[in-house]
Amino acid sequence: MRYSSLLLLPLPLLASIAEATNYVVTVGKDSQLKFVPETLNAVVGDTVTYQFFAKNHSVTQSSFADPCHPLAGGFFSGFNPSASTDTASPTTWTITVNDTKPIWVYCGQTTGNHCQSGMVHAINAPTSGNTIDAFKASAAKASTSTSPPDGLPVGGLRKLHIDVGLGGNLTFSPNNVTNALPRTVVEFSFNPKNHSVVQSSFSDPCHPLANGFSSGFIPTEVSPSGVLFDIVVQDTKPIWFYCAQTAKTHCQAGMVGSINAPTSGNTLDAFIQLAAKASTSTIPPQAPLVGTVTVNGAVISSFNGAVLNSDTTLSSGAVPPPGSNVSSYMTGMAGGGQPGSYNWAPNISDNATDFLQLLQFLDDILLEVLFQGFEKLNTGGSWAGVYPQSIVDTIGSMSAQALVHRSTATDSLQHYQKTMLSTCSYNLAPSFSVVDDFLHAALILLLLEIGVLIDITALVAAADPWLVPALATQLGAKSRMTAVINMMQNHMAASAVREVMIPAPLAWSYAMNNYVSSCPDTIKSMPSKPYPAMKVTNTQQSADGSRTTNITVQVDSGSAGGGGLFIAWIGPWGGLEYSAVGSDGSSAVPTDLYGHVWAVLVNKSGGKLQDLPGVTVAGPELVWVSQP
Ligand SMILES: *[C@@H]1O[C@H](CO)[C@@H](O)[C@H](O)[C@H]1NC(C)=O
Ligand SMILES: *[C@@H]1O[C@H](CO)[C@@H](O)[C@H](O)[C@H]1NC(C)=O
Ligand SMILES: *[C@@H]1O[C@H](CO)[C@@H](O)[C@H](O)[C@H]1NC(C)=O
Ligand SMILES: *[C@@H]1O[C@H](CO)[C@@H](O)[C@H](O)[C@H]1NC(C)=O
Ligand SMILES: *[C@@H]1O[C@H](CO)[C@@H](O)[C@H](O)[C@H]1NC(C)=O
Ligand SMILES: *[C@@H]1O[C@H](CO)[C@@H](O)[C@H](O)[C@H]1NC(C)=O
Ligand SMILES: *[C@@H]1O[C@H](CO)[C@@H](O)[C@H](O)[C@H]1NC(C)=O
Ligand SMILES: *[C@@H]1O[C@H](CO)[C@@H](O)[C@H](O)[C@H]1NC(C)=O
Ligand SMILES: *[C@@H]1O[C@H](CO)[C@@H](O)[C@H](O)[C@H]1NC(C)=O
Ligand SMILES: *[C@@H]1O[C@H](CO)[C@@H](O)[C@H](O)[C@H]1NC(C)=O
Repeated sequence: MRYSSLLLLPLPLLASIAEATNYVVTVGKDSQLKFVPETLNAVVGDTVTYQFFAKNHSVTQSSFADPCHPLAGGFFSGFNPSASTDTASPTTWTITVNDTKPIWVYCGQTTGNHCQSGMVHAINAPTSGNTIDAFKASAAKASTSTSPPDGLPVGGLRKLHIDVGLGGNLTFSPNNVTNALPRTVVEFSFNPKNHSVVQSSFSDPCHPLANGFSSGFIPTEVSPSGVLFDIVVQDTKPIWFYCAQTAKTHCQAGMVGSINAPTSGNTLDAFIQLAAKASTSTIPPQAPLVGTVTVNGAVISSFNGAVLNSDTTLSSGAVPPPGSNVSSYMTGMAGGGQPGSYNWAPNISDNATDFLQLLQFLDDILLEVLFQGFEKLNTGGSWAGVYPQSIVDTIGSMSAQALVHRSTATDSLQHYQKTMLSTCSYNLAPSFSVVDDFLHAALILLLLEIGVLIDITALVAAADPWLVPALATQLGAKSRMTAVINMMQNHMAASAVREVMIPAPLAWSYAMNNYVSSCPDTIKSMPSKPYPAMKVTNTQQSADGSRTTNITVQVDSGSAGGGGLFIAWIGPWGGLEYSAVGSDGSSAVPTDLYGHVWAVLVNKSGGKLQDLPGVTVAGPELVWVSQP
């Protein structure tokens, strides 16, 4: 799916994301004591990335009035010694422009008096008065350059880029960085085939260090993959790492690296030799640890089995995996992100855990349907032009909103360290043969979610009251979505969709029977298998065609007749009615029901809604009853 077309949405946030520019400035390239370009004009939100070349430069902010000396509260990259005159150092420095005031910059290297020799730079310098030339002239006469005394980067991002497996080689490049200052963000960028970055001690290569970092395995066919693993350098102690892939004994073959390794004693060479003799590599079972994995900018806060399935996350149209933080892009489309905290209580009940897993399960299916539907409806898709772009964009923003909603479940499950479900395999082809099928599937999934939200909001209120606002908010948003879908379906018989409570096991059963082929994980409180599907075969209409008067139901291929069975009709406002099922499987539809109604085949009548799962024989199924 190409979400870029949604940049047309008139959302201010999207506009600012679209306009931000990243400028690149070289520092000392070709042995020149120069920043190139020497000046540039940038707007608020733009970023400027400085690339370092030989010799040993800094990017330091000063005032206009006092060149070659740090501005109090200004930024400083730290020094970056670099060997190459024409290849940029893997370490870069990036600042964000926060206002349009002039920003004055110099290199603080005293060996060779770089600042006094004209190695200065400005962003948004005036063209008269305090110009870059005036600044340079003043720098030429300045006293010996100074730098922040702690020597540490501040006010921007000092980033060290390390390629993992570049060119198919079993290497980290570079593998031997000695000038990584504390606060540097080390960005590991993954390439094919299937590597990991795991921290070890010097003395025990190829095995994880307790409390060390681990990226998990990142299988990919794409170079670069768009998958990054970031860690932050905390101090100047040596950092040792390896790739834990056992398929070709990567670690033992030398796929190891170091940051700030000593130049004698425990050197990288010594580490490589130890690794060659190490026992089979191991990796922590969880990932990522200590660092952060992002896929094309979206944070993935955990993945199951310590292996990221990049096949599904890299194609731009795929639903971001559960547990990934919603990217700013999607947040913009959704008109807002998830809260940073849900006022989480110190503990969560088992019931609430199960319900959150069920919501994640339903959200995962809904997202798959919405994302695929949007792709088909949007420009270039097979249903493009069927609906006006404004409607299509609304489906796009609904998809993004549904993604934000899923975070309620996944953020909370992760917060309490409960199992976040792995994504199921789906059977969605029947939902995409024509656009009506897609609308029908989207509507049903929304109704199932609404039904479950009503059910569980009441059930969690006592033990987990913090969940109620999040669930109630979602309920409102999901109801609005059904209105949009309903409008798109306006050529169909039913106009009003009623929000009705659906007991969670029934909603789960319906989804399993209709959309899912298999699931790796189970939800504890759900039945061991779905209730059989109920087919509504023979619907009889009233003489004027305005109502459905009778239905005939089948379970599997056989008739549901035989006596002792009832249809439970789930109506709005908690209403529940029963009608007996005849020996031929036929049953009369109560006369006071309207619109689409959920019907469930049960073997006992008279109970309450919450009792239905205990007496359900088959179903539920949606039955159109009457125009309201
Ligand atoms: C780089 O320059 C800084 C400041 O002069 C100095 O402290 C540091 O030792 C130099 N590093 C190298 C490797 O020359
Ligand atoms: C922009 O604001 C951030 C956050 O306050 C700050 O860290 C950074 O130094 C500022 N950038 C500049 C160029 O002043
Ligand atoms: C991969 O290794 C080969 C052989 O050592 C080398 O020639 C090539 O430059 C390496 N490629 C990359 C991208 O590092
Ligand atoms: C990647 O490697 C890990 C560890 O060997 C393995 O479990 C996983 O199946 C691999 N993934 C792929 C797609 O090869
Ligand atoms: C690592 O870098 C140090 C210092 O630059 C150097 O002495 C050593 O030979 C390098 N080792 C390897 C394996 O590149
Ligand atoms: C995900 O987003 C939440 C809310 O903004 C934030 O608290 C959390 O740190 C983020 N997680 C990661 C791994 O970035
Ligand atoms: C959960 O936390 C509440 C306080 O918010 C406490 O009263 C209750 O005992 C805790 N329950 C469990 C099972 O830890
Ligand atoms: C858990 O939910 C079930 C319904 O699924 C309910 O019968 C039970 O009372 C709930 N338990 C608690 C402790 O709330
Ligand atoms: C249809 O429903 C009516 C009541 O609305 C009932 O009298 C009749 O027997 C039903 N017919 C069948 C075939 O179930
Ligand atoms: C009614 O259905 C429930 C749920 O399927 C089942 O457990 C129960 O045994 C059935 N009761 C009778 C009397 O058939």
